[in-house]
Amino acid sequence: MAKKILVLGSSNVDLILKIPRFHDPGETIRCENSITVFGGKGANQAITAKQLGGDALLMTKVGHDPYGKSYRQYLIKKGLHSKLILEDKKLPTGMAVIELTQKGENRIIASLGANGSLSVRDLKTLAPYWKEVGIFITQLEIPIETVEMGLKWAKDHQALTLLNPSPAIKLSPRLLSLVDFIVPNEVEAQFLTGIEWKEAKDIRKIAQKLLEMGPKNVVITLGSKGLFFLNETEEIRMKAFKVKVIDTTAAGDAFMGALAHSLSRGKPIREVLRFANAAGALATTKLGAQPSLPSWKDLDRFLSRIN
Ligand code: RIB
Repeated sequence: MAKKILVLGSSNVDLILKIPRFHDPGETIRCENSITVFGGKGANQAITAKQLGGDALLMTKVGHDPYGKSYRQYLIKKGLHSKLILEDKKLPTGMAVIELTQKGENRIIASLGANGSLSVRDLKTLAPYWKEVGIFITQLEIPIETVEMGLKWAKDHQALTLLNPSPAIKLSPRLLSLVDFIVPNEVEAQFLTGIEWKEAKDIRKIAQKLLEMGPKNVVITLGSKGLFFLNETEEIRMKAFKVKVIDTTAAGDAFMGALAHSLSRGKPIREVLRFANAAGALATTKLGAQPSLPSWKDLDRFLSRIN
């Protein structure tokens, strides 16, 4: 039977600005067009797991404002439990400004808003929902004490813990020792370890250092170069699927959601990584965070065309 997945993390409103190129300090450029969509790493990862057919819950916080109200309704419509979508009475809903170039590269600035007040106390009020949680995912767009408490509770419940260390900050050995799977991208992995990736073989060094820092499994996502996996007994390199890239936003979130979904079904690690790799690739073929997250049908069709 599939395990229950609990995602603890952010909900943001994303303002996407399509620009011709990343510009220089002091320079003003015109944006080609802009759109506003729902995003936030926590919500993106939970929705992916849910759309893939997982038994997923999302613990998050929005603001007491029009964005917060419509986001809450949207999450409920997506099948996420209303009681776990908290509301901050003072702070605004989290917001991310995403600069997106014609090549599909992005730069993101996230303003935490209500996500920044998702507290340990809030977690305590939601204690009953931890029952039977088998997979726990979190990221770093909420307070670090809440992240650590979530990981600790997940371990107390014998759940498998997944950390997407984004946006990257330095993490304590105590927190890292609670992590079963750490899933940074290449930039985050270099920041966390302090090792610069200069040549191909450095990726192994970076992953090895991450393992020594506490987590039991390391998955470094490498964008168009695929992924690198390392644990005590196994090393796996996987190429990226070739797709036409429109927007890389939330590709990492689709990867995380699919990784959790596949682990919740007890699949072998190669299959788990391939599935997540495909979800990440598919998410780059559409504009925006949540509009690009794959469903089970999308992913199944994509993988069967490749086989
Ligand atoms: O990972 C993509 C997400 O990062 C966006 O949806 C944005 O909200 C930021 O949190």
